[in-house]
Parts: sequence; C-alpha cells; structure tokens
Amino acid sequence: MAKLNWGMIGGGEGSQIGPAHRLGALADGHFTLAAGALDHRADVGRDYAKALGVAADRAYGDWTEMLAGERNRPDRCDLVTVATPNSTHFEITKAFLEAGFNVLCEKPMTVTVEEGEEIVRIAGKTGKICAVNYCYSAYPMVRQARAMVRNGDIGRVRLVVTNFSHGHHGDASDADNPRVRWRYDPAMAGVSGQFADCGIHALHMASFICDDEVEKLSADFASTIASRVLEDDAMVNFRMTRGTVGRLWTSSVAIGRQHGFDIQVFGETGGFRWASEQPNQLIYTPVGGRTQIMEKGEGGLYDDAKRLSRVAIAHPEGFPLAVANIYCDLADAIRGQTRDGLPTAASGLRSMAAVHTAVASAKAGGAWMDARPPMFR
Ligand code: NAI
Repeated sequence: MAKLNWGMIGGGEGSQIGPAHRLGALADGHFTLAAGALDHRADVGRDYAKALGVAADRAYGDWTEMLAGERNRPDRCDLVTVATPNSTHFEITKAFLEAGFNVLCEKPMTVTVEEGEEIVRIAGKTGKICAVNYCYSAYPMVRQARAMVRNGDIGRVRLVVTNFSHGHHGDASDADNPRVRWRYDPAMAGVSGQFADCGIHALHMASFICDDEVEKLSADFASTIASRVLEDDAMVNFRMTRGTVGRLWTSSVAIGRQHGFDIQVFGETGGFRWASEQPNQLIYTPVGGRTQIMEKGEGGLYDDAKRLSRVAIAHPEGFPLAVANIYCDLADAIRGQTRDGLPTAASGLRSMAAVHTAVASAKAGGAWMDARPPMFR
C-alpha cells in the first residue's frame, strides 16, 4: 500500500507534543513526513524540517507558505497536523480544510465556540476529515473500558470521576518560562488555562468511555500563582445526558503528581479505574465480586482493545503508540474505512462549549449552566 504524505505545522524542535506526533505518525508505516512549517521562527523551522528528512522545497518558513506550496502539488499532503499554540488552531485548520486537506488538529481545536461551529460546518461541507488529538482515547484499555460500558458489563453508569492534575507549572519562579507562560495568557491560550489545556482531555474521556455527552456543568476556577491571568486549578461538576453524575479536578500546581490523569467509572453492576501512568491495566470490580486487573494483551478483551495493541502482553506501549493509534485510524479513514472512536471536530466543538460554559459558571459563583454547543442543542 502506498504511503500517505503527511505535513506538520508546529511541533518544532524542543516542543512538547511534536515528538509524539512524529513517533505516532511514522510508527506503522502509513505516513511519510513530506512537508512542514515546524517553528514560529522561519529559519529554525526550515532547518529542523530538513534535518528530519523533509525535501528543501517542502521545508516551509510558515503555514501560509506551506499552504501555497502544497495546494497544487500532485503529491500534496494527504494529512496536515496542526500542533501550534491554541490561538492559531482555528485559522490554520480552517485554511487547510477549505483547501481540501484532511486535518488533525491539536486540542483545544479553537478558542471560541463560534470558531468551533465554523470548523464543524466546513468539515461537513468539504467532506474532509477534521480530527482532534484526544489521543488518550486511543489507548487499548480505554477502548476496553468503552466497550465494557457499551456492552452493559457495568450496567447503567451512575458516576464518573476524573482528574488531570499535575504539578509541572507549580514553581512560581518558572512562571515566566515562555513555554509555560503562553498557557495562562489569554492572547495565546484563549479564555481558559488549565481546564482548556488538560481538563478537556478528562472531560472528553468521560464522554468517550461513558458513550454520552456533557449536558450541564458548574465550575470553580482558581489562579493560585498571582501573575497568572487564567486559571491553573479547576473543579468542575457535570451531568451527562443520561443522568450520569460527573466530577472533574484539573490542576497544574499539584506538585508531586506527575502526569496525573485518571478516570473511575461507577455503574450499577460494577466499576473500573484507568490511569495514564499505568495505561496497560484496567482495574475492574463487579458488584459483590473481587477486584480484577485486566491487562492489555490478555485473552478475552473486546476487539478494539485487541486491534490497537501491537506488542505482547506486559510490554509497555505508552503515549506515542496511543498517538499512533489515532494516525492508524486516520490512515484508514483517508483510505475510505471510517473507524468508530476517531475524535472529530464535533468533539473539539463540545470541548470548547464546555470550556466557555465553565468560565462563565466560575464567574457566576459556580452556577449550573448548559454546556452544549448551540449547534447541538
Ligand atoms: P510548545 O510551546 O512546546 O511548542 C509549540 C511549537 O509550535 C514550537 O515548536 C513553536 O515554535 C511552534 N509554533 C508556534 N507558533 C507557530 C506557528 N504560527 N507556525 C508554526 N509553528 C509554530 O507547545 P506544545 O506543548 O507542544 O503544545 C502545542 C499544542 O499541542 C497546544 O495546542 C497544546 O494544547 C497541544 N498539546 C496536546 C497534547 C495532547 O496530549 N494531545 C499534549 C501537549 C500539548
């Protein structure tokens, strides 16, 4: 099967998420890194793209140059990844979708709900794929959890509790580090800091595993480092459309917590826990029964959990291969086989509606508010 051409915007040398995209996209041989505008500094971006093997005429100084250079090539990119800071996602994603490219956009997809709705409409109109990188949803044991809920293994879900709380922005003396600062600067990050950065992964995960959507929420935000305009800690209570009760804590000042992303789902006949720091295991307890450790790669798992695991039982697979699972499903979708579970622009829009609702709720003292995007009400 011919390889697909892949282009990347952002994710330059030293960036946080760039390496995971390159490892993920290239892991299964579906894609070749054919083009890139990798850095906000044109020369640095060109040089790094060439160092990664991109031909000189496709190592671009910025994304507008890349769009102009790629759009009429016979071998143009089959997929473009947008891995720049949040405030740039909308214009880049929109421009590439409108030019007929498939796009994988980093989260949060946009910074406003209106922009999110526009992306959903453009993706619908052009028929191009617009996926959003909720990569944690592609871990095999997360797919097992989703399949267990779908198959009724824990009964109706009563309660979901999720945390994405780390301590890596907890050092006040590092608050001016440019790679930290933009996340709390409304001009670069939008209306929300930590909730839009990490909280939406947790919220997406709750929806993804419970196979349900967030309907309303109540939020409490705090900026615990005084120089920060946007919140670095948030507690969000929510309800899903089928009545499931949701609790979410997200923080970047929880010193001692490392990655700090976990989820517990409690149903009428059982419950389970998954954590990104032990992603190979799902800890499952049937009501009245013993707690079991379900292990990636063991017999008897649901199909999607089997499909998305490549290495043998007990071998760690980890974050880049979860990202690779997103790229595998994108490659299938580009070749015409749509896979259930690939996070789409609709998920990106729902997150953005939740972010804006949480900001408004926090300002209103935690008032409960409708968290659905107007387009989906
Ligand atoms: P970063 O600050 O570490 O790196 C940003 C990179 O983008 C740098 O290489 C910078 O030079 C480049 N860049 C900035 N503006 C650009 C432009 N206009 N054109 C081309 N390149 C440009 O940021 P990080 O942490 O890698 O985050 C990037 C995006 O990825 C954010 O939207 C963030 O929310 C998301 N992210 C997602 C994660 C996930 O788990 N899905 C994890 C970490 C980040």
